[in-house]
Amino acid sequence: MSVFAIRSICCIGAGYVGGPTMAVIADRCPDLQVTVVDLNEQRIAAWNDRDLSQLPVYEPGLDAVVGRARGRNLTFSTAVDEAIANADMVFISVNTPTKTKGLGAGQASDLRWVEACARQVAKVAKGHTIVVEKSTLPVRTAQAIKQILAAAHGGDDHARSFSVLSNPEFLAEGTAIGDLEAPDRVLIGGEEPAAIDALASVYAHWVPQEKILRTNLWSSELSKLTANAFLAQRISSINSIAAFCEATGADVREVARAIGSDSRIGAKFLQAGPGFGGSCFQKDILNLVYLCRHFGLPEVADYWESVVALNTWQQHRISRLVVQKLFGTVTGKRLAVLGFAFKADTNDTREAPAIRICRDLLEEGAQLAIHDPKVDPEQIARDLHLPASAAPDPAAGPSRAALSGDGTWWQGADEAATIAGADAVLILTEWQQYRQLDWTVLAPLLRQPAWIFDARSVVDPAVVAAAGLKLWRVGDGGVESEA
Ligand code: UDX
Ligand code: ADP
Repeated sequence: MSVFAIRSICCIGAGYVGGPTMAVIADRCPDLQVTVVDLNEQRIAAWNDRDLSQLPVYEPGLDAVVGRARGRNLTFSTAVDEAIANADMVFISVNTPTKTKGLGAGQASDLRWVEACARQVAKVAKGHTIVVEKSTLPVRTAQAIKQILAAAHGGDDHARSFSVLSNPEFLAEGTAIGDLEAPDRVLIGGEEPAAIDALASVYAHWVPQEKILRTNLWSSELSKLTANAFLAQRISSINSIAAFCEATGADVREVARAIGSDSRIGAKFLQAGPGFGGSCFQKDILNLVYLCRHFGLPEVADYWESVVALNTWQQHRISRLVVQKLFGTVTGKRLAVLGFAFKADTNDTREAPAIRICRDLLEEGAQLAIHDPKVDPEQIARDLHLPASAAPDPAAGPSRAALSGDGTWWQGADEAATIAGADAVLILTEWQQYRQLDWTVLAPLLRQPAWIFDARSVVDPAVVAAAGLKLWRVGDGGVESEA
């Protein structure tokens, strides 16, 4: 039995991590009251929407989990102070984007939201509160949180004390529910065994003991950065080989299968593509780079920085080759983009490869028609830095008159509407529905000679060739060699 009995949990931040994680905890621990709070009223309203298809995060299986727990022991609320005051354990799950200005700009994490949370907890918590870092944080952030909390001791009528734990989240978007329900491991970093036991007892409701790893605070924080750096490194490695395959006539899928069968290498995370996106990989590596430089390890910093540099290069490489193959210019040409989310099965576009590729093509004067089954069109406009006036008007449909290309784009209602009249189709997200497209039927909708640029290996090259379309497929030196 732990010394600290946990009856009530509060999670600050109802985003892609906080929402699904707390929904699964509530689902698996009916004896605990779980309250997820956020300052963003719209977001909380969406989490409370009776229509479960309107949840702010699209994640397969999430609707069912929320449907079971919400109103029973899972609450979404904007009453932040009240939820903190009533909680035995507070998870901090707020955003930690890369700093855009000041010291460490472009690399270090911006911790202003984490600090604000720590101050809030320090102010309103009651009794003993276990504070859990859930957001990915730079190594030694727990120290800062501890200092802020320590300053809250005494001085008023409430006796209060704190323990700080690091419990990084390893879920991947699109498979979050499965990852949370059957994690490879749960990592808890801390200094007080009783606090670690208390958090372990929450996970013990459904996670086998041997999968709950205990470390010190710093190892836990660094393990999260390291896991993401290793995963991202595999993607940059295979993408570098993809470019080489295209130059030599090899096929990266065959190379990936051949090397992945070596059990020391393993088969996962070897899919060449348009580069990694998502809220974690780039941010965490840049953070690692910043810390390495700070601690006097410039060679180590350079080593990891090259993983990000290759990723950026891969995205520019794809937009460049699209221009090259379309006779060296895309000005005024209509390009259809299938997929905008950073991976399939999510509505998240943070750091999506599609953003950089589309911006490059808009810069070249292309007219874009974009389709994504789950991403909000307004989000696409924001990501592409397009003025509100450029927002899509589905009623008007694609306008071939607007040939200047300056920020012109259109959100296609479905795949056929998106590609109609286009000179090329770029597939940038591996949505299952794109694998099922019938190119024999769709090919006549394109303006000939038409290209398919398949950055996600979803099409069957034989079918595309039979439909009379030219094909570039990532890492495939065997298809269409004519430039
Ligand atoms: C990642 C980590 O996997 C997760 O453990 C951590 O908690 C958060 O960061 P996420 O970013 O949600 O999760 O998705 P992930 O499946 O890791 O994909 C990241 C990016 O890499 C995507 O853009 C994906 O398309 C790309 N990717 C992944 C590849 O290009 N090839 C692969 O083989 C695998
Ligand atoms: P993640 O992918 O890490 O979950 P998100 O950006 O999706 O990141 O979610 C973070 C959430 O945290 C946002 O909804 C934001 O409004 C919320 N948030 C940030 N700071 C605070 C705060 N001080 N109090 C409550 N909520 C906050």
